[in-house]
Amino acid sequence: MATVAIDPRLDRKTSDFIAQQHRMYIDGKFVNAASGKTFSIYNPATGEVMAQVPEAESADVDQAVRAARRAFDEGPWSRMSASQRGRLIWKLADLLEEHLEEFAAIESMDNGKPLAVARAADVPLAVDLFRYMAGWSTKIMGHSFPISASGEYLSYTLREPIGVVGQIIPWNFPLLMAAWKLGPALAAGCTIVLKLAEQTPLSGLRLAELIHEAGFPDGVVNVLTGFGEGAGAPLAAHELVDKIAFTGSTEVGRLIVHAAAGNLKKVSLELGGKSPAIIFPDADLDKAIPGTASAIFFNHGQCCCAGSRLFAHESIFDQVVEGVSDIASRIRIGSGLDPLTQMGPLVSEEQLQKVTSYIDSGLSEGANATAGGKKAADRGYFVQPTVLTCTTPQMKVVREEIFGPVVCALPFSDSDLERIAQEANNTEYGLAASIWTRDISVANKMAKRIRSGTVWINCHNVFDAALPFGGYKQSGWGREMGGEVLNNYTEVKAVALAL
Ligand code: NAI
Ligand code: MG
Repeated sequence: MATVAIDPRLDRKTSDFIAQQHRMYIDGKFVNAASGKTFSIYNPATGEVMAQVPEAESADVDQAVRAARRAFDEGPWSRMSASQRGRLIWKLADLLEEHLEEFAAIESMDNGKPLAVARAADVPLAVDLFRYMAGWSTKIMGHSFPISASGEYLSYTLREPIGVVGQIIPWNFPLLMAAWKLGPALAAGCTIVLKLAEQTPLSGLRLAELIHEAGFPDGVVNVLTGFGEGAGAPLAAHELVDKIAFTGSTEVGRLIVHAAAGNLKKVSLELGGKSPAIIFPDADLDKAIPGTASAIFFNHGQCCCAGSRLFAHESIFDQVVEGVSDIASRIRIGSGLDPLTQMGPLVSEEQLQKVTSYIDSGLSEGANATAGGKKAADRGYFVQPTVLTCTTPQMKVVREEIFGPVVCALPFSDSDLERIAQEANNTEYGLAASIWTRDISVANKMAKRIRSGTVWINCHNVFDAALPFGGYKQSGWGREMGGEVLNNYTEVKAVALAL
């Protein structure tokens, strides 16, 4: 049984929830794994075990998929009106909003992020996403077409739900990633098996309780806890799943594509990034310096779109490096629950090892740390916000996604936008970029030349339910959010009627 380290700063309800005997949500019921197995959830600020959750394997995945299949094929979900679906999603948003404080605390305990960040970003963005998608339920429509075949026809398209959807999410924004996935699939009328990240399942399990309370019919949403190989892989391969939506590493993205080949289920992927933040010499440095620091340090760099390659023109390079390094060295590191904390621990021991070994590899290849460069505490998974200079485009730290608070600063001397863009685009990824300049022509020319799914101008990490998000190149397939995401969850049916 778990040794529950209840933090005295948590209220009773939240500690009770974290300590409770957790169950997964399958076919409208809260259940243990068929095998009875459980696994431990760690507090990243201390490394202590704080909860046990069921370990789903193939048998549980199969049960959940069959429940979702029945709910899709037999109703009542599939017979509900779009408006009824929308109201249920809206109700879920209301319930989530009512429990904002509780979710923020769970998220902070489970992921390590500062409570204030979860309160201001993760939870309200999830609420907003559900409301935005509730509105889409009644606006998913086809078109009518004049066709030129001989004879007289009425022809139109229908947009129909794609069916049973498997969704696999990561740990960096556990609740928000669940919302990004569930919201549009529900709006489209799909049924869902959601597999939570093994590091951070607690907010998703609490969300399952609210889904139950909101009154979604049994089997419409099923929520599993388990590991990638044990639970994610059988979900991605399952013959009764029509579509798989994945967010995580590019490496696992490739495995998902292979697993999906069996029944050629549709696939959407939101993968890694190595996003450039590019500061031109005319930029307002009072905004660009804190802006590019936040581009990498927000959420401890555990963002797929983190601005991890900082390009600054040589005329301002030293000033930028000094400014960003100064911010980095003043960031207060501590437990997410401490109100003074600006950066919490990384999510897991594994990520701590990964991030510190990237820093070591950069330093041993000749990089210089102008801030940070080390693990930050004896216990918990803390790492110092780190700025590396003297890096070259060949180094691993510049090429690979680190997924931690580590930025590589690179000067450029060019004024030719094509060549600057070429350097920024010199990565297998294409998720996001930010451009910092006062020249609207430079800003918009660069926006066109960058090969990524998002370009921010004089800002970074701006998210909105209405803004599509996703990747070019190896950063993924398809888009999350906006109206675009509905393409992931609908099929188009053409109907031609001879009159
Ligand atoms: P991961 O890609 O292994 O895990 C993400 C999700 O996929 C989890 O739910 C996991 O259980 C599941 N999964 C793992 N193996 C699977 C398989 N064979 N079949 C089906 N599902 C599987 O990512 P991980 O190991 O947590 O982090 C490793 C690196 O991935 C990070 O350092 C970072 O570079 C990147 N990453 C990128 C994210 C993004 O938002 N694009 C989010 C999380 C990680
Ligand atoms: Mg992994």
